[in-house]
Amino acid sequence: MQEARTFPAPVQAALTMFPLVFPDAGSERLGGAWAAGRINLIGEHTDYNDGFVLPVAVDRVAAFAGRGRTDGQVRLWSMAFKEYAHFVLVGLPENFEQQRVMLPRWARYILGVISELVRAGLLVHGFDAVVGGDVPLGGGMSSSAALEVATCYACALFSHDQLSIGTSDATFTPMQVAALCQKAEQIASGVQCGILDQAASCLGQPAKAVLLDCRTLAYRYLPFADPNLALVVIDTGVRRELASSAYNERRQQCEEATALLRAQVQQHEPETVQRQVINALRDITPEQFTRYAETLPVLLRKRAGYVIAENARVLQAAQLLDVGDIEAVGPILWAGHAGLRDEYEVSCMELDVLVEIARGVPGVLGARMMGGGFGGCTINLVRSTAVEALQAAVEEQYPQRTGRLAGIDICRAAGGPGYAWA
Ligand code: GLA
Repeated sequence: MQEARTFPAPVQAALTMFPLVFPDAGSERLGGAWAAGRINLIGEHTDYNDGFVLPVAVDRVAAFAGRGRTDGQVRLWSMAFKEYAHFVLVGLPENFEQQRVMLPRWARYILGVISELVRAGLLVHGFDAVVGGDVPLGGGMSSSAALEVATCYACALFSHDQLSIGTSDATFTPMQVAALCQKAEQIASGVQCGILDQAASCLGQPAKAVLLDCRTLAYRYLPFADPNLALVVIDTGVRRELASSAYNERRQQCEEATALLRAQVQQHEPETVQRQVINALRDITPEQFTRYAETLPVLLRKRAGYVIAENARVLQAAQLLDVGDIEAVGPILWAGHAGLRDEYEVSCMELDVLVEIARGVPGVLGARMMGGGFGGCTINLVRSTAVEALQAAVEEQYPQRTGRLAGIDICRAAGGPGYAWA
């Protein structure tokens, strides 16, 4: 159990709010839990293809502040939505669906995680908590993954460490927390998401990016800090419902492409190569893809071509970070965006406009859309001296070209989740 220490500001704000929204809670000891949002430097739509990703947990967190209860009730107050939600632990996970439909959307993620913790056999206690945070909601920094991971740590706190996480006697490693939260996200949202967002939130470390192999779940940290560079996240303001079905459709297309390419390899390559197991696009080398691309229907060729090239981009970017050359990652971002726009076809007009505007600003080293697509935000790797110029260009051109306003945020690589008594 972590020692009480300075809380991130959103946890502090939630602690201050607690007595106002739970006046009946008395003077029991309060505590807080938190987990970070993320950006992804490169490696988009590679996670569910058993590939590589290169995320950075950022200095924006989802936050819980509250106290434990002994009666199996969970009472929540959302600072963002200014509403209460209430559910009970008894009957989970069997009555998950009955309870889910009664809850506001934000609380469904929390119920989903707790339901999975119960399914995993953990003795979760009830609690009263204020839920807050400063990860922009739906803004492409994985606010839902941050909320899910923070929920696990809140449960660890309020269940008095009956589920210990990330300590030497851990019942759960951080990657197991990530996997559990991924499952909860899939259930709560209906999107067959990969593990990128939850893993990034669980593994974050200050001044580090994480190279994660989404097949083996092995990871290593790479230095990611340069005072002369900034990570700028620009939000299109666009949210599209269509995103979930398009995401699941892409996933399906990748599986179809894998099956067709596997058949080609088995038919044409020498026996030693045939024995190569091909379970995902990750297993197709760029050379093999060049050899058999023509045999695929055009749509699947584009999808697979993007994923295979994107995997290579992640490894290339990781090599550059290894030698401390963050600047050289810039061109990889432009290339990633072109692939997402033209081959994977998950961009949208507003994202393309933001990337074009960024391209016109000297000192912007690279930019691309980030996350699932069809809205959300772009990630921009920018010389610190050029941040103002980028901001000015976006403020001037984006509304003219799209009729919308963009939100601009500067992030830093920050630490992972935590929990402590106040
Ligand atoms: C969403 C999903 C992730 C990942 C990205 C695309 O954020 O939750 O698992 O697939 O899209 O890279």
